[in-house]
Amino acid sequence: MPTKRTPPWDGLLIDCRLATLTANGEPYGAIQQGAIGWKDGLIAYAGPLADLPDRPAALAARVESAGNAWITPGLVDCHTHLVFGGNRAPEFERRLQGESYEAIARAGGGIVSTVRATRALDEDALYAASLPRLRALIADGVTTIEIKSGYGLDVESETKMLRVARRLGTEHGIDVRTTFLGAHALPPEYAGRGDDYIDLVCNDMLPAVAAEGLADTVDAFCEGIGFSPAQTRRVFERARALGLPVKLHADQLSDLGGAALVAEYGGLSADHIEYTSEDGVRAMARAGTVAVLLPGAFHCLRETKLPPIDALRAHGVPMAVATDLNPGTSPLGSLRLAMALACTHFRLTPEEALRGATMHAARALGLADRGTLAAGQRADFVLWSIDHPAELAYWLGGQLVRGVWAGGRRLVP
Ligand code: NIG
Ligand code: FE
Repeated sequence: MPTKRTPPWDGLLIDCRLATLTANGEPYGAIQQGAIGWKDGLIAYAGPLADLPDRPAALAARVESAGNAWITPGLVDCHTHLVFGGNRAPEFERRLQGESYEAIARAGGGIVSTVRATRALDEDALYAASLPRLRALIADGVTTIEIKSGYGLDVESETKMLRVARRLGTEHGIDVRTTFLGAHALPPEYAGRGDDYIDLVCNDMLPAVAAEGLADTVDAFCEGIGFSPAQTRRVFERARALGLPVKLHADQLSDLGGAALVAEYGGLSADHIEYTSEDGVRAMARAGTVAVLLPGAFHCLRETKLPPIDALRAHGVPMAVATDLNPGTSPLGSLRLAMALACTHFRLTPEEALRGATMHAARALGLADRGTLAAGQRADFVLWSIDHPAELAYWLGGQLVRGVWAGGRRLVP
């Protein structure tokens, strides 16, 4: 019988410490003398070097020593608005003078000012404006990014944003998941006609977005300065009819029952949730809806109401952490910094923050193929210059990344 020859792996890193985040009984799912091998974009092995299977195939690969450095799963930023025109530094100055985010929004600033700047850019200009933000996230360890529309607010501009988001992913070897957020704010041409605008979202925008396959998910801003629960429900009904999963900007500035509403629709995630009640948390637990914590917005708005972290823990709701990168409430281009803010402001442990920026974030996007280091998962991982995984949430800024791989391809350096 001829021996069956297994084709070689595409790469193998040895002499590394792995934060696998799998349930192996160790903090961080750690493995001290580890190895990670990959093939065809997937992890072929992540475990102790001593147990490396399939040695001929493994060792035929390009073997590199990681010099005892730590490797984690690639970070997943599951909530961003990184495609936009302009910036809102003048609004930042106004808020520092004492004007509130809500008051500025009601006076025609806020989100709507970014809508003007975003509409004014053609697709190439919008792409060019957004690219540095994508690059910054990748350089700090992100391998999957969710990007929302919501600064176009008409059919043409919303689809433009989503096309730019898709293109950012395909041209940079990184997985971009897109979310349609037409119900983000009321555009000026619909002032005082919220229900008519929701007609436009449901009858024109959503079908156009679905027909072009431009969105993986549908989101809305359910808030006093956004849309009511009844209007949000209409968007969710239409998304459901089109077969698109939903998520929600829920209970950020007040408790409108947003978390329970999105849970009722089996939503992937309820995001922000500072004002969510324990009933809302229970509904999320029942539905398997992930809590997406956005400490960047909390920080920038000088918010004092904390999300119900203890209740989320008590009810076993997975907590994700994301940047919410946007020009208004969270001009934050580092998911590691979001992890640090989640620890300081929300008292997450560094391990919860890392799980929140990997495995739970993946789940908030409905993705089961990433977020841990295990055979069969996508070969998305990061090599770090640290001595302990808690450092990822400890250092504010700085350059910790030594290498980023996405789908088995080296993206950084
Ligand atoms: O997630 N809350 C609504 N949406 C964004 C803010 C967008 C903006 O102000 O431009 C958020 O915080
Ligand atoms: Fe947001």
